[in-house]
Amino acid sequence: MPGSFITFEGIDLCGKSTQAKKLIAHLRERGIDVVFSREPGGPPISEKIREILLNPKNRAMTSMTELLLYEASRAQHTEELIRPALQAGKWVICDRYGDASFAYQGCGRNLGGELVQRLNHLATGGLVPDLTIVIDLAPEEAARRSINMDWKADRLEGERADFHRRVRKGYLQLAREEPKRVKIIDGRGTVEQVQEQVRAVVDQYIQRRPSAAESGKASRR
Ligand code: TMP
Repeated sequence: MPGSFITFEGIDLCGKSTQAKKLIAHLRERGIDVVFSREPGGPPISEKIREILLNPKNRAMTSMTELLLYEASRAQHTEELIRPALQAGKWVICDRYGDASFAYQGCGRNLGGELVQRLNHLATGGLVPDLTIVIDLAPEEAARRSINMDWKADRLEGERADFHRRVRKGYLQLAREEPKRVKIIDGRGTVEQVQEQVRAVVDQYIQRRPSAAESGKASRR
């Protein structure tokens, strides 16, 4: 049976990486074979692209170059790491995936959701996460968190508040359009409170996960 593909999304500093790591520990305790990855990044070629994308010195990068680099990183990541892991029956938990390009480049950079979805399809060969957890937080709250941390903004994190507001709206739009796959979780509580909500969503997903026979028929992989 192919594994499950779960992604974490949200604006910068929403706490998704902490939540992803806690969920992985929980799943491993339950005996599930989990692989963790992130975007941009994953295999070495994608990590190299990440360095270019996030370097604050690359101020001259156009929005279209940015989008295409995210998609190039994703194409490599999907073929080299994600698909083989899923085919081996592993679960892949990924910190961001194609929805991030929809929210950041499609909405944040105003390149348009339709264009991004077409490129996502091309880069992933049609692979879509089984479950996407969006940790929702207002940009103002995220900005408050950054003040309390010893934190240096990368190229995208340094964008203005209206950019991050459009990104957040993009994620909320995805959840309205694909309510079965994209689940919104309130990111304002403590780490433990948010993790409780994450686990509830994942438990629900496990219960409605297709049986081996069904998944063989319906597999997109
Ligand atoms: P990270 O902070 O979650 O590691 O992500 C790095 C930055 O890249 C973050 O500001 C979000 C941004 N990003 C995009 O703009 N588009 C994408 O497709 C992805 C995966 C990330």
